[in-house]
Amino acid sequence: MGLRGSDRQRPTAPPAGGGTARLPVSARRAAVAVALCALAATASGCSVKGEDNANLIAGKQQFVSKCGSCHTLARAGTKGIVGPNLDESFRQGLSEGLGRNTVRNVVEDQIQIPNPEGAMPKDLVKGAARRNVAAYVAQVAARSGKDTGLLASAVQAAGAGKPAVEKGGKLQIPASPTGQLAYVTNKASALPGAVTVEMPNMSGVDHNLAIQQGTSGPVLGATKIIAKGTASTTVTLKPGSYTFFCEVPGHRQAGMLGTLTVK
Ligand code: HEC
Repeated sequence: MGLRGSDRQRPTAPPAGGGTARLPVSARRAAVAVALCALAATASGCSVKGEDNANLIAGKQQFVSKCGSCHTLARAGTKGIVGPNLDESFRQGLSEGLGRNTVRNVVEDQIQIPNPEGAMPKDLVKGAARRNVAAYVAQVAARSGKDTGLLASAVQAAGAGKPAVEKGGKLQIPASPTGQLAYVTNKASALPGAVTVEMPNMSGVDHNLAIQQGTSGPVLGATKIIAKGTASTTVTLKPGSYTFFCEVPGHRQAGMLGTLTVK
């Protein structure tokens, strides 16, 4: 299957923004994949494996942790905007009769051979994990409604952890270690006065934490943006309600925020 990859069409647009402008690219890419598979129907790389071989629950979990910070996929609950919205990538093709097995092959290919000039790292998942992720994306892309059964509970709701409470002038609000665009909790409380807010980040995804008066007031302090380690900022707060949120573009919109109550 040396044809694959080298002959595939590549989007030439820069990665930033994602969005609907990519529809034609994906339609073309999918068509290319179909054509290549038709040409080499006997080559093993093109044989379409049934979903029975894949673990969709593991696939969803891996998708959320390895792909969701860059890609929106409604059923997975991810809202990343660095790469294309994957529901939109496949919506048109699926409505025109593209099979979900083909979507699965396209996703597997993409994981192995992303655009070298794009922002998507190569081989984020390998082997069985790659097949599981591709099977999950193929199963849910552009499908309305919600995952059901065991798939529904495969991933913990973002921000649902125990509220963070200030102790001795320190308030710790970790970024979600799962790679979801969220902090572990969306609730925090502190006493009035100086507070050092610490954000440990084990996700490998760039995040920071900023504190804003109310929900749209001035930003009173912000940590550095980091992908690993712990960043902190010290703010002096009066009684009232504040919002803590991530300033990396798209992250607040994706749900990376919470309420800090000072009293
Ligand atoms: C760091 C950000 C980032 C991560 C993480 C990432 N991607 Fe991407 N992805 C992109 C960008 C940017 C593009 C568009 C450029 C390209 O095709 O390589 C893209 C393209 C794609 C496409 C093609 C969509 C289209 O419309 O052409 C698919 C499918 C895809 N990614 C799936 C995945 C899967 C599955 C994962 C997880 C294993 C993943 N991506 C992880 C950034 C990312």
